[in-house]
Amino acid sequence: MAEHPAYPVGLRLTGRRVVVLGGGEVAQRRLPALIAAGADITLVSPEVTPSVEAMADAGELTWERRPYADGDLTDIWYALIATSDHDANTRASAEAERNRVWCVRSDDADEATAWTPATGHSEGVTVAVLTTDAKGRDPRHTAAIRDAVVEGLRDGTLVAPHHRTRAPGVALVGGGPGDPDLITVRGRRLLAAADVVITDHLGPRDLLTELPPNVEVIDAAKLPYGRFMAQEAINNALIEHAKQGKSVVRLKGGDPFVYGRGMEEVQALAEAGIACTVVPGISSSISVPGAAGIPVTHRGVAHEFTVVSGHIAPDDERSLVDWPSLAKLTGTLVILMGVATIAKVAETLIAHGKSPDTPLALIQEGTTAAQRRVDATLATAGEAVLAHEVKPPAVIVIGEVVNVGPNPSA
Ligand SMILES: C[S@@+](CC[C@H](N)C(=O)[O-])C[C@H]1O[C@@H](n2cnc3c(N)ncnc32)[C@H](O)[C@@H]1O
Repeated sequence: MAEHPAYPVGLRLTGRRVVVLGGGEVAQRRLPALIAAGADITLVSPEVTPSVEAMADAGELTWERRPYADGDLTDIWYALIATSDHDANTRASAEAERNRVWCVRSDDADEATAWTPATGHSEGVTVAVLTTDAKGRDPRHTAAIRDAVVEGLRDGTLVAPHHRTRAPGVALVGGGPGDPDLITVRGRRLLAAADVVITDHLGPRDLLTELPPNVEVIDAAKLPYGRFMAQEAINNALIEHAKQGKSVVRLKGGDPFVYGRGMEEVQALAEAGIACTVVPGISSSISVPGAAGIPVTHRGVAHEFTVVSGHIAPDDERSLVDWPSLAKLTGTLVILMGVATIAKVAETLIAHGKSPDTPLALIQEGTTAAQRRVDATLATAGEAVLAHEVKPPAVIVIGEVVNVGPNPSA
């Protein structure tokens, strides 16, 4: 028979009986999609992998612990034949053919009546890639095409402009600590679809260079020692642009709600009746220490970590931080915005009982090409900042966790 291209179709399997023969690696890879499709799955196999067993234990499928037997493929809609026994697979696919059940075969694509495409999902769309005929089958190639399409749709490098649904309103996007790869998939996609981006000096600035020329980028930088745009002005800019029906992204460093004043913007938008969606980001408080080889917790060393703002010195009456209590904690202290105040903070912690020898690390511009780490102790922190000219943005980690990783200077 002349080879014709396979006919692509989406099976709606909710509540419909599907039989999977074999419980090995192939079944393990294919089962999640069948479960996600809501299929009523019976898996027939004397043995299964631990992951497949976990699916059975979770009630996601019914596992019959036995080999395939003639009659297993009656009254079903679809079969996945993937045992390690070629003869059993051949008998099963013959039964599927007799019963007019579409069947996929892991060991012999020519004998199958259906092929599983390489699939991926992006924003309510399933991308499914099949080679045209059996001779040209190249699963790695189809998977690579799938990856390219899905990745492109997710990160916005592949845009379908005529069908793109523009979402007027504001997305408050956490951009992560600085490395452009550390923004979330959702954040990157919203950025790619924005009309206006209002950004800070922190976060993934490199992503802004990728934006199309029609995107208006507004710098709301609140530089530590320079001119700054008042929060009110930022709120007004967000409101004004959103009222013009534009898709506005407010791009922030790290997570919007970790010293990011994100909720003030959410509140202002709510008062103005403007839709706002919040996209969490990877906070520098955890990721910057991690990027410098410091885990904020470690078994047997630190069972808690506390993130503190150091922007107000301990002896300043505006300080809301209970430094004496923090000095008593045995876990890790992570200080943000603390470069200018670290000498006073260290002095206060020591005065309230923390050992002067407690290890401390300052990580400047973490996750970026300019990242650097300066190690010190609580007693030497102030000097270290001056000697090494540590500048913001920097995360300061205080605690034994500083020394648990491989020594960066060894
Ligand atoms: C206003 S706070 C914003 C924190 C941000 N929302 C987050 O979740 O990471 C700014 C402080 O975060 C820290 N920070 C942010 N990004 C950093 C980076 N890439 N390297 C070092 N510190 C960083 C610094 O302590 C900086 O002074």
